[in-house]
Amino acid sequence: MDIIEAIMTRKSIRGYRPDPVPKKVIEEILEVASRAPSSMNTQPWEFTVVAGDVLDRLRKANLEKLASGQTPRMEASRGGYQGAYRERQVALGIQIFQLLGIAREDREKRMEWTMKGFRLFDAPAAIIISSDKSLGDAAQFDLGAVAQTIALAALHHGLGTCIMGQGIMFPDAVREITGIPDSKSISICLTIGYPDWDFAGNNVHSEREPLENNTAWCGF
Ligand SMILES: Cc1cc2nc3c(=O)[nH]c(=O)nc-3n(C[C@H](O)[C@H](O)[C@H](O)COP(=O)(O)O)c2cc1C
Repeated sequence: MDIIEAIMTRKSIRGYRPDPVPKKVIEEILEVASRAPSSMNTQPWEFTVVAGDVLDRLRKANLEKLASGQTPRMEASRGGYQGAYRERQVALGIQIFQLLGIAREDREKRMEWTMKGFRLFDAPAAIIISSDKSLGDAAQFDLGAVAQTIALAALHHGLGTCIMGQGIMFPDAVREITGIPDSKSISICLTIGYPDWDFAGNNVHSEREPLENNTAWCGF
């Protein structure tokens, strides 16, 4: 696949076929994605690949914590969004709910959708990306680069991904289930699997700001 086509084709996949993804394929994707750049070639990323019973335990733990009223949080913290950022976040939600036929006031269906996120979209596998806490925020940029590279490399194998926070928003549960130690910061995860193209939520084509709103040209 041509690189521009890959970048333009990649989108967040939130509905998957149940077919398992062979370990060999994920291994190949991670090997390719490890060519991503990182500050001073520090390669801060650590991958924990989960599937089968282990992933099911994570889904269950997430739902239990959500049901018990615990507040989901990103360990590599992000504040709430405001202004234009909040508007874009809301626009995405509206787009998804419209495609899924979920009305604004239908709290039950909205909750069901939230729970699907905490079930990691029922994907057959997920890749958790963590880094050593000693690196602090410095690693986050590099982790972003590797996450996008994984998402692009996955396309080569007919796989879809969603870079997502929801799956790892109860980090204690992630640690308990996967054995990721306290000394590591759990930054993000990607769901990965064969897209279910019959799932309406996969038809989202997310908007982008025109360049004139975020680009300055100097010296041209
Ligand atoms: C750091 C990060 C966290 C994200 N977390 C979630 C998430 O928890 N749930 C979700 O449905 N999508 C999540 N996404 C996917 C974004 O919503 C998506 O990338 C954005 O809407 C643009 O859409 P696209 O990926 O289809 O181009 C996340 C993306 C990033 C980069």
